[in-house]
Amino acid sequence: MSLWGGRFSEPSDDELRALNDSIAFDRALYAEDIEGSIVYARALARAGVIEQDEADNIVAGLRQVMQEFDADAFELQAGDEDIHTAVERRLTELIGDVGGKLHTGRSRNDQVATDFRLWSIRAADNLADEISFLQSALISLAETHIETLMPGYTHLQPAQPISAAHWLMSFFWMLDRDQDRLSSAKTRMAECPLGAGALAGNPFPLDRHRLASDLGFDRPSANSLDAVSDRDFVADLLYVISLCAIHLSRLAEDILLYSNPAFGFITLDDRYSTGSSLMPQKRNADPIELMRGKTGRLIGNLTGFLATLKSLPSGYNKDLQEDKEALLDSVETMRRLLPVLTATVTSLKVNAEPMNAALSADLLATDLADYLVRKGLPFRQAHHIVGAVVRLADERGVAMTKLDLAAFKSVSASFEDDIYEVFDFRASVAKRSGFGGTAPEAVRQQIALAKANSA
Ligand code: ARG
Repeated sequence: MSLWGGRFSEPSDDELRALNDSIAFDRALYAEDIEGSIVYARALARAGVIEQDEADNIVAGLRQVMQEFDADAFELQAGDEDIHTAVERRLTELIGDVGGKLHTGRSRNDQVATDFRLWSIRAADNLADEISFLQSALISLAETHIETLMPGYTHLQPAQPISAAHWLMSFFWMLDRDQDRLSSAKTRMAECPLGAGALAGNPFPLDRHRLASDLGFDRPSANSLDAVSDRDFVADLLYVISLCAIHLSRLAEDILLYSNPAFGFITLDDRYSTGSSLMPQKRNADPIELMRGKTGRLIGNLTGFLATLKSLPSGYNKDLQEDKEALLDSVETMRRLLPVLTATVTSLKVNAEPMNAALSADLLATDLADYLVRKGLPFRQAHHIVGAVVRLADERGVAMTKLDLAAFKSVSASFEDDIYEVFDFRASVAKRSGFGGTAPEAVRQQIALAKANSA
């Protein structure tokens, strides 16, 4: 018999149960469900709705149910529709009819909203930890490559020289923003729906502020009708996860590209590479490709759930049960991806030689224009002149840096024999020493700031 069986004359259909039941996935909320019930039982006693010894009895019973779950000894029964039903059923088996007093004034609507918020806050904390491990790995690797130069790209075309540390640190800042979003999502999550009842509130004199603080929330939700159907916190977390995964997919793409033998900039550790069943020479990066690939699924969980929320009428609707599989899947997916990515970065070999060899003269074209600017030419004109130099070098089939002074002077009289000083990749990088630039001193400053931010 289900919790709500009283008004029905026949048990529900098996097919209906298979569709309707959520125990297969919301079992994951058992700890939060039981914690919420313990706090609720005490609140009922404080409000004089149940006797103190009844509350003690209920709390002791709930603790035992918790132990059974913790020990993986909880036995599900056919009628266990969801985690709330299962816990109450077992509680009543253990302590008798008094267990049936626990749900007084409460609905599964405020209960599930409370459970899932608690679960989400913990998931957000774990995610923040996993992200910070990756951030530390990026910082450590960057610290050893402040002087390692590589081509920087725009439009995936060689653009200007940068340091490998600068490249690595660019991902630190993406993750830093993800951390920010995560903590602001947590602020909104920290609102306790318990006591909202089915939709209209709780008819017993419960102290909802106390309920909220006992469960570790910042405050109780202010409108019971909103509280039972608010799943913004789920959408928030799905979005933060999606955007974080998008950042990781970009890192993944760079890793794939730079580890390609045509680049050879980095080498993946054997433990994080995979082979081919056919081609013996292959060193693939399957986990990194999965990082890129699973981002699609994470975005799908977000957009799918947003579509579920759209146009729902006021109050709780069963559609909301879709929140669990979406978020559980996204959180679990990240939990699997992040440690592997962190280990991949930690064990990544940055190959200074091939990076250096890829520094082609054209990467200094901007510096050459800046040289003319320092000689007093307007930048627009300088840009045009250097364009002509690049074309001349192309025509002669040599690198721009190999043209003789006469050739330079044939394009512009402003070129003088100090021109060759420009052709120095290290000098080019060193010039970008302003805040946020790629010069070693600026990158050192950036790393110090990153460390302070993540402390
Ligand atoms: N399993 C349900 C969910 O996840 C619990 C709430 C059920 N409430 C109800 N009125 N049927 O949303």
